[in-house]
Amino acid sequence: MNYELRIGLHIVISILQKNKKMLEKAKKYIKEIENFIPNKAEEVEQLRVKFLSTKGGIIKKLFSEFRNVPHKDKREYGLVLNKLKKTIANKVKTLKSELKNKNTEVINFDLSLPGELDNGSRHPISIVKNEIIEIFKRLGFTISKGPEIEDDWHVFSALNFPPEHPARDMQDTFFIEKNPDILLRTHTSSVQVRVMDGQEPPIRTISPGRVFRNEAISARAHCIFHQIEGLYIDKNVSFADMKQTLLYFAKEMFGKNTEIRLRPSYFPFTEPSAELDVSCTLCNGKGCNVCKYTGWLEILGCGMVDPNVLKSNNIDNVKYTGFAFGMGIERIAMLKYDINDLRMFFENDLRFLKQF
Ligand code: DAH
Repeated sequence: MNYELRIGLHIVISILQKNKKMLEKAKKYIKEIENFIPNKAEEVEQLRVKFLSTKGGIIKKLFSEFRNVPHKDKREYGLVLNKLKKTIANKVKTLKSELKNKNTEVINFDLSLPGELDNGSRHPISIVKNEIIEIFKRLGFTISKGPEIEDDWHVFSALNFPPEHPARDMQDTFFIEKNPDILLRTHTSSVQVRVMDGQEPPIRTISPGRVFRNEAISARAHCIFHQIEGLYIDKNVSFADMKQTLLYFAKEMFGKNTEIRLRPSYFPFTEPSAELDVSCTLCNGKGCNVCKYTGWLEILGCGMVDPNVLKSNNIDNVKYTGFAFGMGIERIAMLKYDINDLRMFFENDLRFLKQF
């Protein structure tokens, strides 16, 4: 029991010495308060009623003994009783709040329960990007990066784009400054140029990154998207090396029964150029509405690095040959997860993102 409470009750006792019956009672109360260890808030409330109730509480009764107290002790008796009353009231208050906190802890905190925080998950674009990176890493490709804000040289000129090529048109490219042109890169092929600039062959690298094009946003196009560029330059690199590398990639990415086909195409920076199709991941080549009943899905552009590009980047185009390829990560992710609206990747809708 609290020190003041004890002293208070002892003083009351000493004053009550003369009234034997009251004395016995007071001693009993001291014991009761001393031994009082509540388990529930209701028990503290019961103690409060017993001592402090204005209708028949013990303190009230002790006050009614006032008239039996000798005149000289009256003042002290009154003071002590008031103090006692206050002390018990405070005690009751603290006991109650202690119990309340204890109870809420017991109810709300079971430390053995697992945390309730939702774990975050990787964005599907990151998942697919990392998967592609891992596949090419197994073939010895390194990872290289370049800036998103580029100049004309790295995005177009060094890649053999003729000055009048439509990709330089305002419709495709977000220009930041004109003359000299500073722009948002429209493809990750610009990183090829940066790698060639800083490294002698052999070069075997992939460059993942964000690219920007001035396109209307729709289910199939966006003004921001992601690409992975590949570049392999060494002595005696052939079209067959490219084909085998891309076949390995397709089988690792879409399953070992996946087949590929190469269709002739045109890119300023490769000669010959091709587009690579994989057998449709949904119908296994039989024909469905995803592959528009052709059995094939286009996944990337590729080709042998144009000797002009090697020359522009100070690489001996007699000694060295190479191949390059570039793919859209969104496109691969859409095929892999059967997503039919590209905008989903950019909307941050948790109902979508939580599925990966
Ligand atoms: N840069 C091309 C694009 O954005 C993709 C591409 C095609 C990259 C062929 C290449 C390549 O390296 O050889 O459409």
